[in-house]
Amino acid sequence: MDNPRPVAVVTGASSGIGAASARRLAAEGFHVVLGARRKDRLDALAAEIDGTALPLDVTDEASVAAFVEAVPGPVKVLLNNAGGAKGQEPIEVTDPADWQWMYEVNVIGTLRVTKALLPALKAADDAIVVLMSSTAGHGVYEGGAGYTGAKHAINAFAETLRLELNGLPIRVTEIAPGMVKTEEFSTVRFAGDQARADKVYEGVAEPLSAEDVADCVAWAVTRPKHVDIDLLVVRPVAQASNYKVHRTR
Ligand SMILES: NC(=O)c1ccc[n+]([C@@H]2O[C@H](COP(=O)([O-])OP(=O)(O)OC[C@H]3O[C@@H](n4cnc5c(N)ncnc54)[C@H](OP(=O)(O)O)[C@@H]3O)[C@@H](O)[C@H]2O)c1
Repeated sequence: MDNPRPVAVVTGASSGIGAASARRLAAEGFHVVLGARRKDRLDALAAEIDGTALPLDVTDEASVAAFVEAVPGPVKVLLNNAGGAKGQEPIEVTDPADWQWMYEVNVIGTLRVTKALLPALKAADDAIVVLMSSTAGHGVYEGGAGYTGAKHAINAFAETLRLELNGLPIRVTEIAPGMVKTEEFSTVRFAGDQARADKVYEGVAEPLSAEDVADCVAWAVTRPKHVDIDLLVVRPVAQASNYKVHRTR
């Protein structure tokens, strides 16, 4: 049966920014295909927004291939959102395994999914690839070299892809949020240490929400098809830079 809604693919759609973006894109009229490892969460969200839930591990070539195979029809929007941070230790003591995880998920995962979906993006009349980087992709901070390095790579990826696709009706947009208070980002970063995770947002009156970032995604995607938002940097007012954050306590 023909699907009259244009297709939007969202990776890392089981929580946080990905889930909020999926909800928002569905509200904008897209048939959203949700990918992540926790299929039970995707199933619930897919039922809510009349989307499609597919298991996806972006670190696994076979999983990406099976995912892409199951995505229906031409793809109008690809939101590469799956990612995250692990650890915040200085280079002298940091664990290379944390870096490996961050590069695999944020960088190589984005490469795997984008590469595999390019034929489906090219099959659409016009399309857009959105890359979720971070303000960590545009500056550094102590203890952050693994994560900032991975997100700087996403900036290089976005700029290179835009050059390589020049002449095709495919836009490439990088969204670089600052501090977003999502349920899992900091608990994943600090291996389940809730107290350390809570400290990140302590005394910050209004960090960004996942919905704030989803709003940016929806705005960039719904510009006219000749308008490419190259880079959208968004922070809470309380955060003037990666390490200058106004806290009330
Ligand atoms: N929160 C912030 O302050 C902030 C700021 C700037 C940028 N970002 C970026 O925004 C994105 C979303 O972050 P968030 O705050 O929403 O964090 P989150 O809630 O931890 O979301 C991360 C998502 O990535 C998915 N994921 C992790 N490993 C995966 C894998 N191997 N294969 C497929 N999916 C995988 C997770 O799903 P499963 O575990 O179910 O696979 C989850 O849905 C990330 O790229 C992050 O770096 C976050």
